[in-house]
Amino acid sequence: MIVLKSRREIDRMRAASTIVAEVLEGLRLMTRPGITTFELEQFASAEALKRNARCAFRGYHKYPSSLCCSPNNQVVHGLPTKNPLKSGDILSLDFGVVYDDFYGDAAITIPVGTVSDSASKLISVTEESLYAAIEKVAPGNRLGDVSSAVQMYVECRGYSVVRDFVGHGIGRSLHEDPQIPNYGFAGKGVLLKPGMVLAIEPMINEKSYEVKVLNDNWTVVTCDGGLSAHFEHTVAVTENGPEILTRL
Ligand code: MF3
Ligand code: CO
Repeated sequence: MIVLKSRREIDRMRAASTIVAEVLEGLRLMTRPGITTFELEQFASAEALKRNARCAFRGYHKYPSSLCCSPNNQVVHGLPTKNPLKSGDILSLDFGVVYDDFYGDAAITIPVGTVSDSASKLISVTEESLYAAIEKVAPGNRLGDVSSAVQMYVECRGYSVVRDFVGHGIGRSLHEDPQIPNYGFAGKGVLLKPGMVLAIEPMINEKSYEVKVLNDNWTVVTCDGGLSAHFEHTVAVTENGPEILTRL
């Protein structure tokens, strides 16, 4: 069942989402060679606390941290570690909070120090694919328009779309209907209506789309060891098109 949100509720979701955006911006500024993802995790938890927000991921299906930190070949759900990042790494950070009963959820991928042209290209194509998807968010369009926009954008440029994880509706729960795959057919799927709020999150691999979960039961990695990037925004469908709630 897809829960529609009123204008007032969307404004409450923007408050939660803005906290997420501010924390991710702080994390982006801190990320440099030598820092550990454990330090990033501590910063994210402390910043949420300062803003009276609760970290959404900690304890979710027993996830043990507040921030997902997925470097290089890790796709999503990487756990913070005390290993220092090094120049040339890429790092995806996924963060969510609950504030005033509503969730906000977003992710970014950051180059650490100086990265290869190929890593940098993967990051920009992944981010651009998210914006290509968001452009399709309008009443009267279908979810397949959003999904296929990511797939077209990415596959035309030689990258692949992870199949095993998807975006989601979001609101008073972190994961609501509908599921939002990053592949599909334009013109198909759920009709978009004002009041839907969607967490759109392309997970894009440099090589094959195949992924597996490590023995920690969380960390998702590419099967072929290739790089992976991830961007996510929480986006409301309005009469006037998309409103990106997780943007500063
Ligand atoms: N952005 C991810 C999602 O929407 C983060 C969830 S991580 C988890 O699924 F630990 F909470 F599962
Ligand atoms: Co999400």
